[in-house]
Order: sequence, then structure tokens, then C-alpha cells
Amino acid sequence: MVRNVADFFPDLQTEDFYLLSGLEHGMRFSEWVATEKLTEFARLDDEEVEYRLDRCEDRGLVERKTIQYLGFRLTFEGYDALALRTFAERETIEGFGAPLGVGKESDVYEVRSYKPLALKFHREGYTNFREVRKERDYTSDNRHVSWFYTARKAAEREYEALEAVYPEVRVPRPIDQNRHGIVMEKLSGVELSKAKLDPGQAVGVLDLILDELAAAYRAGYVHADMSEYNVFVDSDGVTVFDWPQAVSTDHENADEFLERDVENLVGYFRRKHPKQVGDPDVRAVPETLRNDEFESVRDHR
Ligand SMILES: Nc1ncnc2c1ncn2[C@@H]1O[C@H](COP(=O)(O)OP(=O)(O)OP(=O)(O)O)[C@@H](O)[C@H]1O
Ligand SMILES: [Mg+2]
Repeated sequence: MVRNVADFFPDLQTEDFYLLSGLEHGMRFSEWVATEKLTEFARLDDEEVEYRLDRCEDRGLVERKTIQYLGFRLTFEGYDALALRTFAERETIEGFGAPLGVGKESDVYEVRSYKPLALKFHREGYTNFREVRKERDYTSDNRHVSWFYTARKAAEREYEALEAVYPEVRVPRPIDQNRHGIVMEKLSGVELSKAKLDPGQAVGVLDLILDELAAAYRAGYVHADMSEYNVFVDSDGVTVFDWPQAVSTDHENADEFLERDVENLVGYFRRKHPKQVGDPDVRAVPETLRNDEFESVRDHR
């Protein structure tokens, strides 16, 4: 897990952010940015660059390596700090809170604003990158740059999908996005995988979720990563979250993805509530998914 950047965020100074932004800029061109370049990119003199590099290195925001030259790059914590600073400047968030969830590909925190919100930092590419790095210490430029790029792209894709389907689909309300971070409404309730549903509620809850998938389809999107871990259930219904893999309904495999989403979900309910959902006569796919638009799903049934 990446360390919580909030621990050291309050004592970062404006010039530290100049350095981090300069490094971010330099990393577009090479994996390790030479110190001389930093004076130019960060618009700080040599002495200031040295001082800021030490401070940022002590806080785990940058790391160094000597190749043919001494180079520096941002760590994910450094990238978190930059995104957090932008959210704070835009007044999207005012304070940082406790972790809400740590996924394989993201860290989600509570953040304070006019009300509690959720901040999700994407980490796509990072875990893989660490594994690969253990195996061989490559110095290929593009790969390193790519884990920042991959994480940012995932955040952009997720935000775009949320904006496109909200409010027609019950998703966390999207609030802001910067770099690899998304700020959204904080959900209440529990993940479907942990929800204790009465047997009598199972079919009803399944129908509610399928209605959301149908609404998303009408809004032009297929979630494409549907599972009991990506749905929250509370007393007013269900919310579908975690949308970075969503595809447009124009995508050539959209119907296959939709079919797989429905299978995953129905499969989960069948395993968990075999008496209620196991019988093939039980209506598992709602009306909305049973018209011509959803041929693949209907055939599957
Ligand atoms: N808006 C939110 N409000 C409250 N909690 C949230 C919110 N978004 C995500 N979480 C929590 O953070 C966890 C991880 O979020 P999400 O599923 O979006 O990321 P992920 O990278 O897919 O994680 P995983 O790889 O484990 O599926 C969720 O399981 C959930 O508990
Ligand atoms: Mg998830």
C-alpha cells in the first residue's frame, strides 16, 4: 500500500510543490530527471533544488538513481501530493480523513469538504510495475512513465463514465478529477458481498442492480467489471461504483461485456441464494433487459 500522503502534506511548502511539478514535467521526457533539468523545469536555483530534493526525498515523495547521471523521479506519494494540492486549491476538499478502502488498483480515502466525500487514487500499473521491477531492473524510459499515465487514464475514464451516467444511474456523484484522483460522493451502506440480505430480498436486490445496468446501457455505457464487490447496498437501494473499465455501448464487444456483467451478478445471487434465484423459472433479468436492445442477454437467458 502506498503511504497516506496526508501524514506529511501539512508541512509541505510552496517551493516543494514547484519541485514536484517540475519533476512531473520532466518525467514526460525521461524516467529519471537530471538535477540540472530540474532547475529549469521547477524554476528554482541550484541550491533550492538541492534543498527541496532532500526534503521531498525524506518524505518519500521522490526517489533517486544514478545511471550515467544522477536522476530523480516522483513516487506515487509524490503524485498523490500534487493531486491533493490541486484539489485543495480548487477548494474541492478541505481535509483528509481515514481510508475507506484499499483495493489492488486503488486507495480510497474519506475527505472533508462541505460534507464528507470520497477520494479515489488510481494505482493501475503500479503493482505490476513493482513485480516486474523485482525481476529485472530495467531502465526503459517508457515503462516508468506509463504507470503514471495508466493511473491517470483510468481516473479520467472512470470520471467520464460517472459524469455520463449520473444521475440516471445510481452511482457516486462525481465531483472533481485531477491526475490519478477522483473526488466523488461518499457512499453509505455496505458492499453487496458483505450485505446480509434476507432470502426474501434477494430477487428484489438483484432486480434493482440489473435495472441500474439497463439504465447505464441506455445512457451509453456498460460497466464491464460487475461483481458483488462493486455494488453498495443500503436502506434506500443500490449504488454501482468502480467504473474505470466501462465501455461505450458502441464498443464492438459491449454486448459481450454486458452479458458477462449479468452472468457475474446472477451467478453470485444463484450461489448465495440458491433457493430464491437458483430456479431457472425465477425472473432474474428484468423487463428492461429483455427487449430487443439486449438481445445477447436475452439469448443468454
Ligand atoms: N464513493 C465511495 N464511498 C465509500 N467507499 C468507497 C467509495 N468508492 C470506493 N469505496 C471503497 O473503496 C473500495 C475500493 O474501491 P473500488 O472498488 O472503486 O476500487 P478497486 O481498485 O476496484 O478496488 P478492488 O481492486 O479491490 O476492486 C471499495 O470496495 C469500497 O469499499
Ligand atoms: Mg472494486
